[in-house]
Amino acid sequence: MSRIAIIGGTGLSELVGLEATEIEQTDSSYGATSSDIETGKLEGKTVCFLSRHGQPHRIPPHKINYRANIDALGKLGVDKIIAVNAVGSICKSMKPKHIVIPHQIVDYTYGREHTYSDSAETELQHVDFSTPYDDDLRFLLIKAAEQSNFVFSGEGVYACTQGPRLETAAEVVRLRNDGCDIVGMTGMPEAALARELGIAYASLCLVVNPAAGLSNEPITMEDIQRVLSEGIVDVLVLLKSVVAQLS
Ligand code: HPA
Repeated sequence: MSRIAIIGGTGLSELVGLEATEIEQTDSSYGATSSDIETGKLEGKTVCFLSRHGQPHRIPPHKINYRANIDALGKLGVDKIIAVNAVGSICKSMKPKHIVIPHQIVDYTYGREHTYSDSAETELQHVDFSTPYDDDLRFLLIKAAEQSNFVFSGEGVYACTQGPRLETAAEVVRLRNDGCDIVGMTGMPEAALARELGIAYASLCLVVNPAAGLSNEPITMEDIQRVLSEGIVDVLVLLKSVVAQLS
């Protein structure tokens, strides 16, 4: 059975349009998932939805039980995940509301439970993570974005920082020098855990602010919320378009 899941991030704790939803019995070997997993119909297709920060939004990025979330989705037969992530932009050309379908990751997080290969009972895996996102899913997202009139980039390097604080201006210079285009706090270890379980994974990022030091204005939650509430509408259009294309 092929099943797709959407993991909603900041600004997407509910999937508007998901119909006839049922709450799945979430069975994870790693503790509680961030939220119930809802299964319903979107564009006539079966879709599972999980809210990464909980419902309502309450779990900070470094406290999310990524292992439980991905494990529970895998146990429900999910073989594809589209993750939605709000990000800051390191690239001047990516303004707020810009959509990015990243192709690479640099991981700056620490202290997170980041692997299933960590006990004598589990098989030690050194998964190939050269291309962290699934290209087939990325291409579906890119095709959907091309068919829209949204401003988007079909590539980008995602820097995952620890949070919950935002970066210093000097840290953002370092991220730029490292080749990163966007910065968020939740892309890892989510993507790597999906790879360990063999689940195809891609991310749909919405730029909600210029990263620290790149604008003369301070970064405020009010500004981020405003961009999110507008931009998430575009994100939903793309999600529906991709789901509609799945067989
Ligand atoms: N930095 C890290 N994570 C973020 C940002 C940012 O500027 N904006 C949204 N998530």
